[in-house]
Amino acid sequence: MTKNPIILGVETSCDETAISIIQDHESGIPKILSNIVSSQFDIHKEFGGVVPELAARSHVEKINIIARKAFKESGISLGKISAVASTVGPGLIICLSVGLNFGKAVSSSLNVPFIGINHLEGHALSPKLQQNLEYPYLLLLISGGHSQYLIVNGLGKYKRLGTTIDDALGEAYDKTAKILGIEFPGGPKLEKFAEEGDPYKFKLPKPIINKGGCNLSFAGLKTAILKISKEINTEKEKFDLAASFQKTIEEILYVKTKKAFEEFKKINESVKCNFVIAGGVAANKGIRNKLNEVSEENNFRAIYPDIKLCGDNAAMIAMAGLERFKNNQFNELDLQADPRMPLDINAKFLKGAGVKL
Ligand SMILES: Nc1ncnc2c1ncn2[C@@H]1O[C@H](COP(=O)(O)OP(=O)(O)OP(=O)(O)O)[C@@H](O)[C@H]1O
Ligand SMILES: [Mg+2]
Repeated sequence: MTKNPIILGVETSCDETAISIIQDHESGIPKILSNIVSSQFDIHKEFGGVVPELAARSHVEKINIIARKAFKESGISLGKISAVASTVGPGLIICLSVGLNFGKAVSSSLNVPFIGINHLEGHALSPKLQQNLEYPYLLLLISGGHSQYLIVNGLGKYKRLGTTIDDALGEAYDKTAKILGIEFPGGPKLEKFAEEGDPYKFKLPKPIINKGGCNLSFAGLKTAILKISKEINTEKEKFDLAASFQKTIEEILYVKTKKAFEEFKKINESVKCNFVIAGGVAANKGIRNKLNEVSEENNFRAIYPDIKLCGDNAAMIAMAGLERFKNNQFNELDLQADPRMPLDINAKFLKGAGVKL
């Protein structure tokens, strides 16, 4: 195999056009040679959410420019690429198709392997861009579209312990932000609002806190916030509501993470207890502090990707690509985008009315 292979990562599953080039290293921690992320906030903010058609158009317009920038910054020429890894799912199908086809075209023209990556596997492996991490480990994936506890037993080997039965945590942040008049995507700004307010001012529900194992539910919170928001008038009360929401989320995650620790230990008696928190919401400092607290109390080591690697990026896609490249796990060029691609293929679908926990 090529010494220190170089992987081109491509990510266009939602509203970020991202290209990264990473190179394997003897230390086990690859070097990020470039990592360009172009977000589309300005395109979607007036609609209060991502408009798929506009997102896909923007990927088409930008992908060549972003790729050129990534090559320039890396100092690497096209001919040095060992393999191309593109996100294949989950995500918006017309957006996924742009990066997938771009990746296939580059791999075909360079005659190097093509690798389709599950976007969520990218998040799951993102801390490996900065440190060595052995399998198995416990993962809390909290992003715009997903909220799951999983045991990562190896590359492509996932066991889901729990999932949201309604909204994802990032979605709950964005919806709450919208109710409070914060523009999309409101998650990061809502955290700032929360820092100014009184977290004890409003009592909010903690859905399924004492049942459903490690499963999560956030939709009831949004309904409660909507009701309270109609009764408040001042800016101070908005800060208080944001702070109360932030505190409630921290408390829910504290209880559910403790439960996930128990489940992990039942299955993995004598392994190192590593707990990875990944996905866009893992950037939230209040959540980090609370998860550090519960980890310390239960002898788990909490591990986070750098803030800039929490949200969508292509370095994490290249990381998953590098691991697959080393295992000779390649894909054919007829690989299709999969908008609903799960991590644990055996896990039951747990969303919607009538779900039994
Ligand atoms: N500091 C923060 N506090 C709370 N939420 C945050 C923070 N920073 C980002 N987010 C939220 O993270 C989400 C974006 O994360 P990410 O890019 O991983 O999601 P996605 O790619 O849209 O979804 P998925 O990865 O599930 O397909 C948004 O909902 C955003 O509001
Ligand atoms: Mg994501």
